[in-house]
Amino acid sequence: MNEKVFKILQSSKDYISGQEISKKLNVSRQAVWKAINSLKQQGFVIDSVTNKGYKIIDYPKSLNKQVLDNILETEFIGKNMIVLDTIGSTNDYLKVLGHKDGKNGTVAAAREQTAGKGRLGRKWVSEKDENIYFSVLLRPQLSPMEVSGITPVAGLAVCKAIRDYCNIDCKIKWPNDVIVNNKKLVGILTEMSAEFDAVEFIVIGIGINTDQTEFPEEVKSKATSLYLETGKKIDKNKFLSLVLKHLETELTKSNYKINETNLEDYKNLCATIGRKVTCCKGGRKIKGTAINVNTRGELEVESEDNSLITVNSGEVIIQGIY
Ligand code: BTN
Repeated sequence: MNEKVFKILQSSKDYISGQEISKKLNVSRQAVWKAINSLKQQGFVIDSVTNKGYKIIDYPKSLNKQVLDNILETEFIGKNMIVLDTIGSTNDYLKVLGHKDGKNGTVAAAREQTAGKGRLGRKWVSEKDENIYFSVLLRPQLSPMEVSGITPVAGLAVCKAIRDYCNIDCKIKWPNDVIVNNKKLVGILTEMSAEFDAVEFIVIGIGINTDQTEFPEEVKSKATSLYLETGKKIDKNKFLSLVLKHLETELTKSNYKINETNLEDYKNLCATIGRKVTCCKGGRKIKGTAINVNTRGELEVESEDNSLITVNSGEVIIQGIY
């Protein structure tokens, strides 16, 4: 009912009376009134004027399904949009759907996560309405080998969306963090269920620091938010819708890979190339300079003894970046 009343309010240019809405939907005035109150509780500002009716004059600041459904411009990502007030982890939520009949492109976004997960078993602190937390369920018909570049592609898409929406000079810290002024703005955690030669599903979980102003002591010098960088609070719904659009474009364009369609873009936005790095390879610590990202999405490092090393996973410490 809320959705139907929202659609009518949204599509009417001027005030519309409760009576007219109830007639259109063939429901009681009481039911319309209840739906309007529920929309107000979600954060819609709805003006009501005697003898004229109702009109939406402002939208929720927090993530909202009605608003997102209305503004999404994608073909499949987010067509099934789930917005949760609170959840343990949006990745875990979608993994359950992945094992069942969750549709390709389903998005689960949450206003709060109580058990948000970071990479390498770390926590991802996810306070209510402070930042954006969401995951995307994908079912590409590819082998696990063929999707090894999917997280960097997602990083590229989010980096482009932020540059587009906020006009800031953010970059990618190889393989997939998005950074600005050498501090982390976005984290991505990809999880997969697969057989030897076929992916069953992939969940890409993305956390974007939007409004946060204070960080725990241990990450204070390493993390930032869009608000701290720009001094502006963004519209979370509009911004998420743009991120999903970029994600869909980048993933479909490259068929989920780092390849000739996106490698130049990736390299141009990659802050790691040209920096001094320390990486772990076969249990050995190697110092050198990052010189390239290759077509497999691996980082190429020229070591101090002039040998060429490729790195494809694990932690790389980059001088000057957290
Ligand atoms: C990282 O450590 O950099 C990855 C952080 C990923 C956080 C996001 S928030 C939405 C999704 N749900 C989770 O539990 N984690 C990811």
